[in-house]
Formats: sequence, C-alpha cells, structure tokens
Amino acid sequence: MTPGPVLRDAVAADAPRLAEFGARTFHETFAADNTPEDMRAHLAATFSPQRQLREIGDPTLDTLILADGEQWMGFTQLRAGHVSDGVPPQGSIELWRFYVDRRWHGKGLAALLMDGAKQRARRRGASTLWLGVWERNARAHAFYRKHGFQRVGRQVFVVGNDPQTDDVMLCALT
Ligand SMILES: CC(C)(COP(=O)(O)OP(=O)(O)OC[C@H]1O[C@@H](n2cnc3c(N)ncnc32)[C@H](O)[C@@H]1OP(=O)(O)O)[C@@H](O)C(=O)NCCC(=O)NCCS
Repeated sequence: MTPGPVLRDAVAADAPRLAEFGARTFHETFAADNTPEDMRAHLAATFSPQRQLREIGDPTLDTLILADGEQWMGFTQLRAGHVSDGVPPQGSIELWRFYVDRRWHGKGLAALLMDGAKQRARRRGASTLWLGVWERNARAHAFYRKHGFQRVGRQVFVVGNDPQTDDVMLCALT
C-alpha cells in the first residue's frame, strides 16, 4: 500500500528520470506542432541528466516531484529572479515548468501539483506567481485560468530555431 500521491523535493538521484520524464512529456505535448529538427534541438538543450542535476542543485530553483511510491505523475519547477511582460518586478516567482504525465490528465493530479507550487512560492515570500504558456496550448490555458491565472502580457519562447509566442499569466498569492 502506498500513501497516495505525495509532493517532494527532487534529489540528485532523480536527475536521469527527471530528464526522461520532461523530454517525454514535452515531446508528447508539442511534437505535432513543431518540426522534428526544432524538437530535437530543444530537447537536447533542455533535458539531460547533467542539466537536470544542475537544476536540482540550483538554489534559485525548486524542483518538486509528484509521485505515488515509484510511480511519477508530474513535476514542477519554480524559478526565482526572472520576470516578464506585465509581471511585478518585486515579489514575483515564476512557475517555470509544469508537466503532468498524460495518463493522469483530467484526474485532479495537476491541481495537487499547482497547490504545492503555490505553497512553495508563498514560503519563498512571493506574492505573485507567473508563467509563460504557449498561445496555442488551449488545455493548459483552461487549467491555469481555473487556478486563478490571468493573462497580462506576451513573451517569446524559442523552440529550436522557431521563436514562438507565449502568453504571460499571473496569479496573486493570497
Ligand atoms: C496542462 C496540464 C498540467 C493540465 O492538467 P490537466 O489534468 O490536464 O488539467 P484539468 O483536466 O484539470 O484541466 C484542463 C481543462 O482544460 C479543458 N480542456 C481539455 N482539452 C482542451 C482543449 N483542447 N481546449 C480547451 N480546453 C481543454 C478540460 O476540459 C479542463 O477543463 P474543465 O476542468 O473545466 O473541464 C496537463 O494537461 C499537462 O501537463 N499537459 C502537458 C504539459 C503542458 O502543457 N504543461 C503546461 C506547460 S505551460
């Protein structure tokens, strides 16, 4: 019997699995809308055991994994020290990555991950949580709106060689 889904901080030993999980989820979500070359370049630059190991040890990042025993359901990363279009320069923290495994979509697990991310952001002293989401990622938009985010601006997100437009959304942490 496992205790059910639990949110925990990533540790160094999680790096290889985190790289695999992130790359797989990104590919599943966005491969149909990008060229194979852009996708390959983005995955190679973003997900590798070495890269995730560095991120796990980076004090400006929080890497949180949602897992039920050995089964991983999702992960999120908070990043301090960055703001974007329409984001207050003081008291803001970025919800940098937010991925739930496809088999757990629509089952309330993403809400658990979001609650944990907001809690951690508050613990870090933030009053605003912000994120960038691809303008065409309709499911993510609907999810973020449901969780109190509103669009405040736009930013560029480059996938491989393709500059894409992200909507910038923020949520007040009360
Ligand atoms: C974005 C994500 C975290 C949301 O988690 P989820 O469990 O799928 O979210 P939910 O099912 O609670 O909410 C999604 C909402 O979008 C709706 N929806 C589903 N497909 C949709 C679509 N194609 N267009 C618009 N809305 C859609 C759902 O009906 C649901 O709304 P409802 O609760 O009012 O019915 C998850 O889908 C995910 O990890 N996706 C892949 C990675 C990703 O896109 N991450 C975000 C990067 S910024």
